[in-house]
Amino acid sequence: MKVLVTGGCGYVGSNIVAALGDNGYTIGILDNLATAPVEIVEDLRAKVDAKLTFFETDVTHIEALKPAVKAFSPHVVIHCAGLKSIADSWQNPLAYFDVNVSGTINLLKAMDYAGCTRLIFSSSATVYGDPEFLPITEDHPLAPINPYGRSKLMAEMIMHDWQRKAEGRGVAVLRYFNPVGAHHDHLLGDNPKTPANNLFPIICQVLAGQREGLSILGDDYPTPDGTGERDYIHITDLSEAHIRAIAKTAEPAFLALNIGTGKPTSVRQVIAEFERHSNAQINARIEPRRPGDVATTFASNQLSVEKLGDYVHNTTEDAVASSLRAAGLKQHS
Ligand code: UFG
Repeated sequence: MKVLVTGGCGYVGSNIVAALGDNGYTIGILDNLATAPVEIVEDLRAKVDAKLTFFETDVTHIEALKPAVKAFSPHVVIHCAGLKSIADSWQNPLAYFDVNVSGTINLLKAMDYAGCTRLIFSSSATVYGDPEFLPITEDHPLAPINPYGRSKLMAEMIMHDWQRKAEGRGVAVLRYFNPVGAHHDHLLGDNPKTPANNLFPIICQVLAGQREGLSILGDDYPTPDGTGERDYIHITDLSEAHIRAIAKTAEPAFLALNIGTGKPTSVRQVIAEFERHSNAQINARIEPRRPGDVATTFASNQLSVEKLGDYVHNTTEDAVASSLRAAGLKQHS
């Protein structure tokens, strides 16, 4: 079976590619190499024991996208290509709508052109906006509070209308909470070419001496230790959820599922885990809250586990250990 991964060279996409390889799929990668180094393609080819075709194509270029999708003729597309920084989305909102919304429309047109009816979408918990209740279930109001979140929600809605339009189309929208960690063997970690702005890669950079220190963005939240709480899902578990969702797209339906552990972990707990595993002290200082951050958010993964089976096998500790290994950092034995 042939699966095309857009954004297959990025952090999430490359880990999904590795999981597809582990599960015997024939893989196509479509990526513009905007955030990933070009070597990742050969690196993936060497690591992934599967037939792999690479298209250096941008989802905003419909003229190049259509023939690429048609040439590969996938049975299923996993759409990970997109821009993903909340802060950047305030600076460049049109870029977010261009890539995340117009890029999705282009992809659907290219899929129609190639006769492909099955899609998995890399969505985000950011579509829910500020939590009205916890844990967040899939029927929580969809009220994103930044351009990035709005672009993801618009893409979801467009896919839903596309799915409804014709017989036999199947879409699974996977709303990620906080993907972290690295593939155990292939060590595909979160090491973007662009500046990191997520907690795990920032801590790795501090431990590697590439940054002076970590800013704890607020210690006055109404949480047990005052720092923000998130639902950190190991990238290997998240990738496995995609593999299982492939079968779901054979059903003519639109399925939206949270992908998370169902458990909150605080910034201080993450720091403590990194310090324990690296046997190093992290230079951290308290800074004001980041605008738009919420105190606590975590998933209800009840529906996704019911639909996909239990995909949560790793702990935050496993994610910390694999992040350190992928970043080439010493681990305390
Ligand atoms: N944090 C710090 N210092 C930093 C960076 C982050 O203390 O330098 C804290 C944040 O305040 C937050 C936690 O670490 O409490 C996690 O922050 P991240 O930036 O790693 O992740 P976010 O939860 O802010 O955002 C992530 C994804 C978004 C997605 C969102 C969905 O990066 O793309 O989850 O909930 F939209």
